[in-house]
Amino acid sequence: MFKCCLSIVYGLLVVSYTLPHVRAAPQDVPSAASFYVPSIPDIHQDPNNPLKIYAGHLSADPNITRAQSTDVTSHLYFVMIKNRRIADKRRLMFWFNGGPGCSSFDGLMMEVGPWRTDGKGGFNVQEGGWEEYTTMVYVDQPAGTGFSYTSTDRYVRTLETASVQFLEFLRNFYEVFPEYKTVDTYLAGESFAGQWIPAFANAIIKSSLSVPLRGIAVGNGWIDPRRQYPTYIDFAVKVGLLEENSDAWKEAKKNTDDCVTEINKVQGHEPMQVKGCERLLLQVVKNQRKKVDGKDMCLNIYDIRLHDTVPECGMNWPPDIKPVTTFLGRKDVVHALHADAHPGSWVECRSGVHTAFYEKSENASITILPQVLEKIPVLIFAGDQDLICNYVGLEAMIKEMTWNGATGLGTVQTQSWSVNATPAGTWVTSRNLTYAKIFNASHMAPFDAPHVAHDMILRFMGFNFSSIFEGSAKIPSSLGTVKKPIFIGQEEAKPTTAPVPGKTPEQDKAMWEAYYNAGSAALVLILIFAGIGSFIWCRLRRRRLRLPINTNEEESIPLNASRHVEHERDPEAVAVDDQELYESRQRKGKGRATEPESQQVPIFDVGDSDEEDDRLHRGG
Ligand SMILES: *[C@@H]1O[C@H](CO)[C@@H](O)[C@H](O)[C@H]1NC(C)=O
Ligand SMILES: *[C@@H]1O[C@H](CO)[C@@H](O)[C@H](O)[C@H]1NC(C)=O
Ligand SMILES: *[C@@H]1O[C@H](CO)[C@@H](O)[C@H](O)[C@H]1NC(C)=O
Ligand SMILES: *[C@@H]1O[C@H](CO)[C@@H](O)[C@H](O)[C@H]1NC(C)=O
Ligand SMILES: *[C@@H]1O[C@H](CO)[C@@H](O)[C@H](O)[C@H]1NC(C)=O
Repeated sequence: MFKCCLSIVYGLLVVSYTLPHVRAAPQDVPSAASFYVPSIPDIHQDPNNPLKIYAGHLSADPNITRAQSTDVTSHLYFVMIKNRRIADKRRLMFWFNGGPGCSSFDGLMMEVGPWRTDGKGGFNVQEGGWEEYTTMVYVDQPAGTGFSYTSTDRYVRTLETASVQFLEFLRNFYEVFPEYKTVDTYLAGESFAGQWIPAFANAIIKSSLSVPLRGIAVGNGWIDPRRQYPTYIDFAVKVGLLEENSDAWKEAKKNTDDCVTEINKVQGHEPMQVKGCERLLLQVVKNQRKKVDGKDMCLNIYDIRLHDTVPECGMNWPPDIKPVTTFLGRKDVVHALHADAHPGSWVECRSGVHTAFYEKSENASITILPQVLEKIPVLIFAGDQDLICNYVGLEAMIKEMTWNGATGLGTVQTQSWSVNATPAGTWVTSRNLTYAKIFNASHMAPFDAPHVAHDMILRFMGFNFSSIFEGSAKIPSSLGTVKKPIFIGQEEAKPTTAPVPGKTPEQDKAMWEAYYNAGSAALVLILIFAGIGSFIWCRLRRRRLRLPINTNEEESIPLNASRHVEHERDPEAVAVDDQELYESRQRKGKGRATEPESQQVPIFDVGDSDEEDDRLHRGG
């Protein structure tokens, strides 16, 4: 009864708070209630305990007071999903996808969020989402990405401007949701967000916002190109895609050497991108080209266990991107998500945003990471089946990085890590840096291994497992010889330190290394010599799907989608709602482009998806 009334009140507020106000420079901060999303069409929630969702646009232009009323200024879009279970304390996490220009709906609808496609155009709630114990905020940034918007001449060109934009968004976020000002806060994301996240963390730490930032996490990140480019070949050899000293290897070696020569020419800063290396990724694995049923196929650069059609080579993956794009193209969905102010349709990755971002002379985030590590813990994680931002490159980066007084991890021991009695990966921590390798997972590791990824983030955030009695806390996991305490029935939860029977961590590690090498060797297929003239960045140029999805068995990754989720009422969340309702009543009153194509784009970007396609095969 109470719930129902709440929804009606919120509904009215949403209607009365018309969107043009959001688009123009708002004089007042909108109320939290105006962001409340009572329901989303075809998202099948537990009717008794629906997720608490807030979504909409917040201004991200610090100069807004100086803008003309007709200016289209930068507005970032977010979806916030409140934690649905209580843990030892409250936590808040901002999530970012990569690109530049890729929407965080990737994370929300395919990775760490609560929903997975039901195969019929809708979405089911599924276990494993990070909103279980943590309030998650998925941010579309920089402006122009996903449902965020700005005039195209305001697309950001540098990490610094992106940071300014995010900080302004954050300032407004805390105005709307002041109750989060004191909640432990984390930033997480993947791929090119390996650039965003350290920069944002650094900006937050140096700002006057006094955000209680407690850590950052980057999955398969693009952080240190100087180390990551040259290791493509090493990774390919390690996983059996290339045989050392074979003709294919010799050519890959030559391409790598050429790239290294180009990298060495870059002095005075750490490059974020090197022109002479753009094609290296595909050059190294071009022996993986093959014909299947008359179709040219190439390695999926995000998951080396899979192949994709040429020239997409992974852009068609994961298959969920198709239903997600269709869903987010629906007017009723856009309206429910408070995204009407965004012109045009949602695209996964907007090339205009990418084009405007001038990465060529930018200092990569590897120059910032050590400063961040002085202040807060950092988690670098990597799905081990990813090629584009593979773990070998990340390990090379860690080995050569100097932070907190030393270089590399030092003498700390890597531990085996298991979740649900299955080897999940390896784990090592040294001087505020944690590195976790996730077995059997792609570039989008949480897509393949949601429970493992969740266990990882809970561990990183220092959850007190002894004080969690519901949900994922029941999934056993262990790190080295230490098992996670499990609360069983009415028994008192006790941390146990019983050694894992059988193997030592080293034996375990050796066993899994062997397993992987054998598994990957099977992937070495007919060698077909061909070249692709496109360059591929970490999750850089994802396109709208046009081609039929390859539905062979290998690509239908089981997601263990569960229709039934036990939702716990979060008393704190209820309290917040009450307060918001109260407050809402009180306040109710109220590039420079690198390519000529951008110049043809109208000032106000309408999100034309066709622009995506040209960008894919630049240098074609
Ligand atoms: C805000 O305005 C100042 C002064 O005009 C300018 O230097 C700065 O770049 C602007 N910031 C943004 C994010 O547009
Ligand atoms: C890039 O970072 C390095 C520190 O690693 C610094 O010395 C250099 O001045 C920076 N360059 C630019 C252009 O910011
Ligand atoms: C690590 O992070 C903590 C905050 O969690 C900070 O107090 C400390 O100074 C950092 N540095 C080292 C070397 O641990
Ligand atoms: C890896 O995935 C394969 C296929 O999905 C599965 O058979 C195997 O058990 C997995 N291995 C691990 C260590 O999870
Ligand atoms: C974890 O939670 C348990 C149960 O609430 C409590 O007894 C213990 O002191 C907590 N541990 C830490 C390190 O806070």
